[in-house]
Amino acid sequence: MIDTFVLLDRLPTPAEHRRLAEEVGWNAAFDWNTMPTSLAGSTAGVVALDGNDVVGMGRLVGDGVKYFYVQDLAVLPVYQGAGIGTAMLRRLLDHVASTAPSTAFVGLFATDDAVSLYERNGFTPGDMTGMFRLVKPTEG
Ligand SMILES: CC(C)(COP(=O)(O)OP(=O)(O)OC[C@H]1O[C@@H](n2cnc3c(N)ncnc32)[C@H](O)[C@@H]1OP(=O)(O)O)[C@@H](O)C(=O)NCCC(=O)NCCS
Repeated sequence: MIDTFVLLDRLPTPAEHRRLAEEVGWNAAFDWNTMPTSLAGSTAGVVALDGNDVVGMGRLVGDGVKYFYVQDLAVLPVYQGAGIGTAMLRRLLDHVASTAPSTAFVGLFATDDAVSLYERNGFTPGDMTGMFRLVKPTEG
């Protein structure tokens, strides 16, 4: 169990993102070729370091003003349960609080593993139901 880690306010590189994503089992969730552009479109990012090693990541996407969505929050399995995920989430929320000009909406889709972490940090379904669908590109 780690007791000291450092947070940096930056996005994971595509290589770091892929390594962490694969380590937490998100092997089929991403098109790796398009991830550099996807990451570059983020509003903000955070990484957790143990020494020089990136052991956690998270990012925000959205309009940077009113709507923010937490994406790709992940911690390497051997580092889980030490507060790193909570610390990264709070760092992203601090970013929203310090940059949004008025009250912002922060949304996310939670995995089963992460529901309690998000609930402890004030997230709730409220009176809405989160929904999503996948859209395939139009073939030329
Ligand atoms: C979800 C995830 C990001 C959480 O990261 P984490 O670093 O393990 O999160 P935390 O350590 O802050 O919190 C996890 C648990 O450890 C406990 N914990 C927090 N700080 C702790 C500490 N210092 N010592 C011991 N336990 C601690 C928390 O109580 C929490 O328990 P609970 O959520 O079961 O109630 C991580 O498990 C993960 O990467 N999972 C796979 C990917 C995933 O599902 N991501 C979520 C996408 S929505």
